[in-house]
Amino acid sequence: MVVSNRLPVDRVTAHDGTPSWKPSPGGLVTALEPVMRRNHGAWIGWTGVADDPIEPFESDGLRLFPLTLSEQEVEQYYEGFSNDTLWPLYHDVIAQPKYAREWWEAYSRVNERFADRAAEVAEQDGTVWVQDYQLQLVPRLLRERRPDLTIGFFNHIPFPAYGLYSQLPWRQQIVEGLLGADLIGFQRRADAGNFLRAVRRLFHMPTTHNRVELLPAGAGRWPNSGSEKPRSVVARHFPISIDTKAYVDLASSEAVRRRAEEIRHDLGDPSTIMLGVDRLDYTKGIGHRFTAYAELLAEGKLDVNDTVLMQVASPSRERVESYKALRDEIELTVGRVNGDYGTIRHSAISYLHHGYPREEMVAMFLAADIMLVTALRDGMNLVAKEYVASRVDDDGVLVLSEFAGAADELKQALLVNPHDIEGVKRAILHAVHMPRSERRQRMRALRARVVEHDVARWSQDFLDALAVIRPSASTRELAETD
Ligand code: G6P
Repeated sequence: MVVSNRLPVDRVTAHDGTPSWKPSPGGLVTALEPVMRRNHGAWIGWTGVADDPIEPFESDGLRLFPLTLSEQEVEQYYEGFSNDTLWPLYHDVIAQPKYAREWWEAYSRVNERFADRAAEVAEQDGTVWVQDYQLQLVPRLLRERRPDLTIGFFNHIPFPAYGLYSQLPWRQQIVEGLLGADLIGFQRRADAGNFLRAVRRLFHMPTTHNRVELLPAGAGRWPNSGSEKPRSVVARHFPISIDTKAYVDLASSEAVRRRAEEIRHDLGDPSTIMLGVDRLDYTKGIGHRFTAYAELLAEGKLDVNDTVLMQVASPSRERVESYKALRDEIELTVGRVNGDYGTIRHSAISYLHHGYPREEMVAMFLAADIMLVTALRDGMNLVAKEYVASRVDDDGVLVLSEFAGAADELKQALLVNPHDIEGVKRAILHAVHMPRSERRQRMRALRARVVEHDVARWSQDFLDALAVIRPSASTRELAETD
């Protein structure tokens, strides 16, 4: 069973009032959905709409258990503590986190509600896999309610260095919450390291390699209330991936290939199409990318008559102040760059503030000579992997930020530090002028990685590790009767 803030589908209401469902945004759902469908899993999450009670239902082999959030909970738990406190803090304070006590209280209450619901729905001795920063208190709350369960947690975003994490007024409670799990997964080795350091610093608990031996109740600074048997918790990295085959299949289809040609044609058949695909989020470094591109146009190193940058910026968290400000800033920049460098025939940036269905995304990936991923901090960045998976022609160049988790694996990309604008410009020019043989060589190596390490392997690795740490109920019983 999966517990995550969002269900894989969002509730939408048409202008005439007809309700329907559309896929939820973001990497978490993209990654988990195929795994859960294959396993006929149960999924607890929110529908994306406030005050919208909906009965459990089945969708394409998934059992969905919607959890209702009130308008105030959406404001304080989701927009507030999750996305205006934890999100900026965990992404290296690119934006200033706000520490508001009433948001923390709402976060705790909503985490209790998720834990209550999971405790009701999970079968005896079942396995529950809790997802991401919105639900970090759930592992402990769930263990208190249901000690029979095996509990995994996966953090899809970075875990910050202790120097930053220690700003959080509730730093102890969050770590305690996470330590309720048997296995805590992170994207990068460095994230797991940061977490283990926080455990040592906050609780003076010994950690060996990637394992925390929980102290007995009352020992050190560990506040555990007593009835629990001694146990250990493992924290290590499991880099998430995508359903690679689904992208390969789409990219191989005649319809998608034709659509890619159509996109190139509609953009004026330029010699170079660059592409950015992001949620409109300040962590993604969209502005840095625009600056590098605009300077190359200004210096005459790129020509707007045969180059275009297509930027898909899908709407995200639109009521949070820092996201509103970012949208204004990005759209002002697009206007300026197009005003300064565009011609009647050609825009420098083709800016699209929409989400698109997967077929259309794959067609864009196939149409793009260069993919720009310039995140300032990113747990993984699945778009980088989606681009690679879609390039069944072994062509295209990936420019990838070293601050995205994907950089640990996709080493044949052109790796950049997005703060170093000259470095980004050099990488773009390298990509523009890269000979076909080098493009092929790099893309083949990148593809080999993404084909072998797909999301099925990710979830299998996590669940196998979980089963080793906490053997199934039947093996436990055998061991106890021995
Ligand atoms: C990231 C997070 C997910 C989140 C997604 C979309 O991928 O790791 O937990 O669901 O962004 O953000 P949203 O706030 O719309 O759920």
